Amino acid sequence: MTTDPKPLLRALHGTAGAPPPIWLMRQAGRYLPEYREIRARGRDFLDVCLTPDLAVEITLQPIRRFGLDGAILFSDILIVPHALGQKVWFEDGVGPKLEPLRRIEDLKQLSLGGLDEALAPVYETLRRLSGELPRETTLIGFAGAPWTVASYMIEGGSSKDYATAKTWAYGAPKEFDRIIALLVEATSRYLIAQIAAGAEALQIFDSWAGVWPEAALRRWCLAPAQEIVRRVKAAHPTIPLILFPRGVGPMYQAFAEECGADALSLDTTVPLAWARDHLQGKVAVQGNLDPLVLVAGGATQAEATATVLDALGSGPFVFNLGHGITPQASPDNVAALVEQVRAWRPKG
Ligand code: CP3
Repeated sequence: MTTDPKPLLRALHGTAGAPPPIWLMRQAGRYLPEYREIRARGRDFLDVCLTPDLAVEITLQPIRRFGLDGAILFSDILIVPHALGQKVWFEDGVGPKLEPLRRIEDLKQLSLGGLDEALAPVYETLRRLSGELPRETTLIGFAGAPWTVASYMIEGGSSKDYATAKTWAYGAPKEFDRIIALLVEATSRYLIAQIAAGAEALQIFDSWAGVWPEAALRRWCLAPAQEIVRRVKAAHPTIPLILFPRGVGPMYQAFAEECGADALSLDTTVPLAWARDHLQGKVAVQGNLDPLVLVAGGATQAEATATVLDALGSGPFVFNLGHGITPQASPDNVAALVEQVRAWRPKG
């Protein structure tokens, strides 16, 4: 794979190279005036995700501005519960809301039958994007991991402590297995279809993996990730997968050894030398600049960026943030970041 013309694919397949490729989680979004302009037209957020003209345009906005190595599909992880038949909406200034699952019987109201049709606009978006991207840019598809998506489906939105979802899991683990199994099936089908529509790499976001003790983490995050990776690889063996098990601390090592993904996305708290010594020999790593550094900018940003590059840039590495970019980030700081990463070479 060393001959691949796309730097992001080379890195995800395990090849080191300077400068490393760069893209940013949530790179399309409210920190960009051209995104806010589209959103100000007043369309519902899910409607924007399901309108290919708009989703293509928004996906391309950060590529035009910054020439990033990866273009991530503009959508949301909650499109899957929507496609399963759950009521999902986004309230301005509040975030996502869902008609919550309360009892296992509520699963009967969800169905895999309508999945392909509900997600057809997403596949259309990917097909159009694969014809429009620069030759060296990799088209990234994504989905939420079963636990992170289940947490929204059960809590009915964002949550501070996931008490309702965790209490269900601890109190009725077999029921919880059924919810996770439904999401493994839906997510695997969704990701495989994204590849068929043109996605060249995939990321699975397990943003709330960090709330579990080890045994539960293995059962509801690691094992489902393994199963999704197995199914996607069975269908498309050469498409690289990135997993983002945010907040799992030393358990990142178990994910590196066992989940089967090609790369792990590191959250901001993962120590760099530890990641180099314990993860980077097993998988490519991606990360992990604190997104709030892009609000501060200046010398703070330059030093923090150099620290990440010097620690991880000599192995298989993708420069990224440790979580999604915030609406307060400055586009000028993003431009400076890309310039610094592109100029980086290993010391000595
Ligand atoms: O990376 C990209 O540019 C692709 C688009 C993308 C969005 N959401 C767009 C979005 C991706 C990859 C996501 C993933 C996502 N969505 C996650 C996992 C990653 C993470 O950040 O942990 C989660 C947990 C969600 C759920 C979600 N969607 C929340 C909690 C919110 C509200 C918070 C917020 O930032 O507004 C959203 C809305 C959302 N998803 C927006 C965007 C651009 C903002 C919508 C708007 O007001 O325009």
